[in-house]
Amino acid sequence: MYLSDHDIRDMPKQYRTNFVNSLSGFKSANLIGTRSQSGCNNLALFSSAVHLGANPALMGIISRPDSVTRDTLTNIRETGYFSLNHVHKDMIEAAHQCAARYPSEVSEFDAVGLTPQTSQHHPAPYVKESHVSIGLKSREIMTIAVNNCYLIIGEIIEVKIENEAIQKDGTIALEAIQTVTISGLDHYHTTRLIHQYNYAKPDRPLSIKK
Ligand SMILES: Cc1cc2nc3c(=O)[nH]c(=O)nc-3n(C[C@H](O)[C@H](O)[C@H](O)COP(=O)(O)O)c2cc1C
Repeated sequence: MYLSDHDIRDMPKQYRTNFVNSLSGFKSANLIGTRSQSGCNNLALFSSAVHLGANPALMGIISRPDSVTRDTLTNIRETGYFSLNHVHKDMIEAAHQCAARYPSEVSEFDAVGLTPQTSQHHPAPYVKESHVSIGLKSREIMTIAVNNCYLIIGEIIEVKIENEAIQKDGTIALEAIQTVTISGLDHYHTTRLIHQYNYAKPDRPLSIKK
């Protein structure tokens, strides 16, 4: 099948949303934890987290336009902090429910039965049930002019992770801790590692890392 830009534009709205949301392939599944200025903990499901750099350690998330109330975006703007918590197999239902539009004064933690955890070094709440939690300080919020979305760039302040999850080269064994991945807006997947490769060089055949 061939689809032109016109074909995509002419799709029924929900069909187009599902189609385009699937095109970028598998995405990460994270719960973004924030706290409002009045002290209400907020949790929202985001599949747009991206690695932006390792030194300084930066990550980005994309927020939808603030034409309606966006608690995550508002809280980050007002407090400057957010947490990113991996979704694993046993918390998929609670995580997906966090995408529901609860009023600002309702904490999704209470609504879906997840546990907020605080840290001395970071004011935004973590999800206790998560196997990887990352505390970030907002460094830059960029407007994406073409669609009024926002790229929120955070610097990593601290990471909470089980010792066994970190391999000897520093890579996190995501599969071992059952971190899941998302496709589209409502498909959740477990993963199966194929191979880990050594650094690719033009003058050397590719080899599997032992
Ligand atoms: C699978 C999935 C992925 C999502 N990813 C994002 C995302 O990356 N950015 C975003 O702004 N909203 C995303 N959403 C929508 C938010 O979860 C939803 O708007 C939520 O109500 C936001 O809550 P908040 O107002 O507390 O921030 C996603 C929803 C689902 C179901």
